[in-house]
Amino acid sequence: MAAEPSHLVSLTERAIAEIVDADTIHALNAVRSRYLGRKGEVTSVLRSLGDADPSERASLGQAANRAKQAIEDRVAARRGEIENAERNRALGRQSIDVTLPGAGPLAGRLHPISLVMRDMVEFFTGMGFSIEEGPEVETEYNNFEALNIPDEHPARDEQDTFYLEGGNLLRTHTSSVQIRAMTGREPPFRFIAPGRVYRHDLSPRHSPMFHQIEGFMVDEDVNFADLKGILYAFARHLMQGDPELRFRSNHFPFTEPSAEMDYSCRLCDGQGCKVCSHTGWMEWGGCGMIHPRVLDRCGIDSDRFQGFAFGMGIDRAALLRYGVPHLRLLFEGDLRFLEQI
Ligand code: DAH
Repeated sequence: MAAEPSHLVSLTERAIAEIVDADTIHALNAVRSRYLGRKGEVTSVLRSLGDADPSERASLGQAANRAKQAIEDRVAARRGEIENAERNRALGRQSIDVTLPGAGPLAGRLHPISLVMRDMVEFFTGMGFSIEEGPEVETEYNNFEALNIPDEHPARDEQDTFYLEGGNLLRTHTSSVQIRAMTGREPPFRFIAPGRVYRHDLSPRHSPMFHQIEGFMVDEDVNFADLKGILYAFARHLMQGDPELRFRSNHFPFTEPSAEMDYSCRLCDGQGCKVCSHTGWMEWGGCGMIHPRVLDRCGIDSDRFQGFAFGMGIDRAALLRYGVPHLRLLFEGDLRFLEQI
């Protein structure tokens, strides 16, 4: 076979180099039309065959057709490559790693305080207590006066109490629910009242809003021994062990006699540690026999009926149960913390 005319060889090489360089379909189409299009270089060689020397016309024509075919083949091959690469790139963008764990729906969960509160409620409902709820915006009468807390009592001080316009206040304790639950009702009754309470107080150990649970029982022959029995059982349930309780004589206007209760520190078993300020005891709450005057204010015959009452914080119990170092963590609503519980 005759050697290819050199201008066709270099033209073909140039075309192939440009085809290899083209990396989009658009660029490739442009290269193809530069050589094979209506005004393309190879096309013009074929068109000008009529002017060629008749002795060379046939072989020149064949060479030009071979060049045309070679370029056409390379264009087709390159087109396949570009299309493949584009498909892979698109697939890469949408690719799914089937070995990744599935993204399940986000499940909500109960707040540590709700968990402890529910646990407490479950214990007391199991003992025959029913739940009473009162409003957080309370009257001064229910929060103080009916509970035998006199006008000049320091608890009434604006430093401790959030007073609202119109004479109401944010309840400072759940004891106000005693009044709501007992007024106009006939004993016997056993109630618990868990809920939020408010005081002017902000420190690492105090928050202006916190939670208490109140319990009270009234009948014809309820006594302090019943109170202690219930509290011992409650402490054993709550602390999942057998803590010691200590009753210190104290004064609350709405109970007589009154006591402050402590339980033996669970962390050092009463030996004394940082958490219990080296006393071996943790403060738990207050309790006592309901003052006859409170019963009278609720319309209950205090000659015939007696009752006990107790009240304690819930938040501290949640701190201890879940090993949370700061009260603040319980109220900030930071999911990074809450999801660990
Ligand atoms: N209400 C008291 C307080 O918030 C706690 C308390 C003490 C409640 C004695 C009681 C009780 O029912 O008998 O500090």
